Parts: sequence; C-alpha cells; structure tokens
Amino acid sequence: FQVPPPKNEPILSYAPGTAERSELKKQLKLFRSQEMDIHMFIGGEEVRTGNKVSIHPPHDLNHCLGYYHQGDEVQVHQAIDAALRARTDWANLSWEHRASIFLKAADLIAGPYRQKINAATMLGQSKNVFQAEIDSACELADFLRFNVYYMTQIYGDQPSSSPTTWNRVEYRPLEGFVFALTPFNFTSIAGNLPSAPAMMGNVVVWKPSKTAIYSAHVIMEIFREAGVPDGVINMVFASGPVVAEEVFSHPEFAGFHFTGSTEVFQSIWKTIGNNIHRYKSYPRIVGETGGKDFIIAHKSCDVKAVATAITRGAFEYQGQKCSAASRAYMPASRWNEIRDEVLRQLGEVKMGPPEDFRNFVNAVIDEASFDKLEAVIKEAAGHPEAEIIAGGKCDKSTGYFIEPTIILTTNPHYRTMQEELFGPILTVYVYDDQKYDETLDILDKTSMYGLTGAVFAQDRYIIEKTTKALVNAAGNFYINDKPTGAVVGQQPFGGARGSGTNDKAGSLLNLIRWVSPRTIKENF
Ligand code: ALA
Repeated sequence: FQVPPPKNEPILSYAPGTAERSELKKQLKLFRSQEMDIHMFIGGEEVRTGNKVSIHPPHDLNHCLGYYHQGDEVQVHQAIDAALRARTDWANLSWEHRASIFLKAADLIAGPYRQKINAATMLGQSKNVFQAEIDSACELADFLRFNVYYMTQIYGDQPSSSPTTWNRVEYRPLEGFVFALTPFNFTSIAGNLPSAPAMMGNVVVWKPSKTAIYSAHVIMEIFREAGVPDGVINMVFASGPVVAEEVFSHPEFAGFHFTGSTEVFQSIWKTIGNNIHRYKSYPRIVGETGGKDFIIAHKSCDVKAVATAITRGAFEYQGQKCSAASRAYMPASRWNEIRDEVLRQLGEVKMGPPEDFRNFVNAVIDEASFDKLEAVIKEAAGHPEAEIIAGGKCDKSTGYFIEPTIILTTNPHYRTMQEELFGPILTVYVYDDQKYDETLDILDKTSMYGLTGAVFAQDRYIIEKTTKALVNAAGNFYINDKPTGAVVGQQPFGGARGSGTNDKAGSLLNLIRWVSPRTIKENF
C-alpha cells in the first residue's frame, strides 16, 4: 500500500511581479468578461433545465457572473439513479485506480487549475487572495493527497492470522449512495465532502451551497478531467426541501456528509430517523456544524500575540469560518494594552472587493446574512450591557459590506457571547484577573458548541489547567495561536457537542466512516 508521500501544498505569495499574480489577475478579468452558463452534472451528462438563476459577486451586486440551472425532484431522482448505476463498477475498481484519479485531481488544482479555482472562489464567495489560496488551492489539494494516504492506511490495517487460518478485512464501500451537502465558506470543504466517500468506493449525489455554485462548478470540471467516471459524483442544484424529500426517503440512502448549520443538521438527522425503517442499512451520518469559538487570554499572555489572533482569528474571511473566534475573555489587567493593539491593527485593515489585493476584508455572503448581522450590531449599539468599540458600519449599496466589529459586554452571557453569528463580529468580556477559574467555568457553560478555541498564556500551570478545564469545549484547541487555519495532515479538524460528529476532516477518522468492513476467515 504505497502511494507518493503526501506533502502540504506550498502557499504562493502573489506578491507584485510574481507569475502567479499576473495569471490570477488575467483569470479574474476573464471571469468578469463572460457570463458563465452553469449546468448540473448527472451520470456524466451536462443537465440544463432552462430555469436560470443569476450569480453575482457578494461584493459587486450589479455585476452578473453568469447563471446556474435550477433543478427539481426530477434531476435529484436522476442523480440518485445515475449514482446507483455506476456503483458496481466503481466499487470493483481497484483502489490504485481510484487513488490515481484523486491524486491527479490534486495536481490539476495545484497546477493548471490553480488560478481558475482561486478566481472563482474570490469572485463567487468574496474571498481575498490569501484566503482563496489557502482554501481552494492548498487545502483542497491537501485533502485529496492526504486522504489517499489515509485510505492506504485503512486498507493496510489487517488482523492477525495463523499458518492454518487466514483472517482478512475487506473495506467495502457502503451499500447504496452517499449524499454530500456542502457549505459556501470553504471551496476545499465543498470538494472534500463528495470526494472522500467517492475515494473509498462510494457513489455520491452532491448538492453544493447555492451561494458557492460558481466555484463548485470548477471543482466538478477538475474531477471530470482527472477521470472521475460517469455517475460516481453527480452535482445537482435544487432547493433543500426538494432534495431532502428525494434523498432521505430512498431505500439506498447509505451516508450523509455535511458541513453547514446546526439547525439544518438537526432537522436532517430527525428526517433520517423518521425514515430509518426504509433503508437497507443504518446510514452513516457525518456532520460538521456550528461553533461559538473562543479566545481566552491569561494575564501572563503575550499581548501582541493575542491581538494578532483576534484580528486574524475573528475577522479573516469576514468571520465566516466555522472556526472563527467570536467570543473573547480578556484579563482586566492587560485589556487596555490588548485593545489598543487590536484597534491599531484594525486601523490598518482595508475593506473592499477581493480583486484589489490590498483588501483584507471583503463582503459577507448574502443579503440574509448581512441583514441578520446588521440587526445584531444595531441591537448591541442600543443595549445597556454592550458597547461597540470597533467597526459597526454596514453598507449593502454595492455589496454586503460589514466592518470588523467588536462588541464589549459586561455580561458574559450576553446574546452574542452565546449565539453563532457567522460574520465579522467579536464579543469581548473583560474578567477580573482573580477570577480566572470562574471565567473558565463560564466559558465552558456559555455555549452549546465545541468546535475551536484558543488560550494565550506563558504560565505553564495555567496552560495545563485551561487545557484540562476546557476538555470538551473545543475539538481543535490552540495554545498561543489563533483558533482558525487548521492544516490537513497537521491539525485534524472537527468538534463535538453542538458542533458536529467530530469525525475529523482530513484524517483517517473521517475516511473510515465511508467503509463497511467485511471480515473473512478462511481455513486451510
Ligand atoms: N479548517 C478550517 C479552519 O481551521 C475551518 O479554519
């Protein structure tokens, strides 16, 4: 079980004068000069319904990037049928050939498609150049290469035998099809959720987020060019309820790979539960959902490091990472220094369209998100327990722009300390230095989530105490680093509590969910 040893894809700089910068600029211009006609992809066929929905960059609402063809139950049904028709051949194809397809896809992403997928992510999801590069180029290539490596580890894990008995485990794919429902915020996650089960021999129906179809279409193009056969991954665009009705009532529904909101995940879990008598097997349910990710600083912290973690951890990609810091607990004795440094850093941050590479902050994804975030900021501005100490301005005249906003609260249970907002809003609670232990307890009990969190301290006793006290508060826990930016192969990613099933993305623990092992014993 030997494959090329995986290495993380290096991050390109895009500094002025570099080849990657001029290639990316060229691609952005090309995308801007054309209107893309985006079709579904079912059983190897391009499917167009004529029911066209326009796509606009979240930062430039007057510009049209193109259209996608909206489907309905007919196409979802066709996608399931196409997947099931492809199942036997795909499941019987030896693992080396499946691996080759996805290794080739990784090379296409890192090579000839790099600027196409980056530009699609920048325009369609309003991501700055660095955020697009680490997501759609590096992380997606990493997911594919590392998953191939984990696949070989799974297949290589065999039980012991004796001279007269041979025991072996066959890692079969699930009996049926897998449904992947993917989010807008990471192109890499959108590519990983259908490809991880497919790699393990499963056939997949994939519904990307309607706000990320522009880049999803490029992912599908890459998968096809890499050699994913007809019917193995089928991409459909249809409304959530229509897809749910078709997928979750089907007897061959065998697995669900999801990243998105807690609310949607819980409602789908209930639907699956209500239909459980219909299925051939108990479906695998793998989901990464919400977060209320934290940063806690101790008085022994390095102030500059905390401030940088706040600026980057809370506001990169407009706070729309499931890992983004959205609540912070700061020691009273160091707060003024931390605040001043954060405000200094935010003063240097520019907001605007991602095509201007100097802009760190771009637009939030859509109007629903903008309106919700604006309402939260307005409420905080008039609330006796809250004060807005940075940002607060919202403007949707040309795109959905919201300034990086910091709410200072006197109530550690204030609404925005508890609720996931998914936007550029951080709420800070300043605690009395003497009450560190009590603050840890409050932090642990304030939110229903358990995704990411970070502690900043130089005192080793404090680091150890915090790590133990917050054992279930974060599936990814960072010591003296921001809570975002997990790297495949280095920090397997995922959380428990209300944040998901914690089947770490980009790890063997995730891939193993997509197989149904058969044990074979043979006597000689
Ligand atoms: N894996 C992404 C991060 O860690 C969500 O930021």
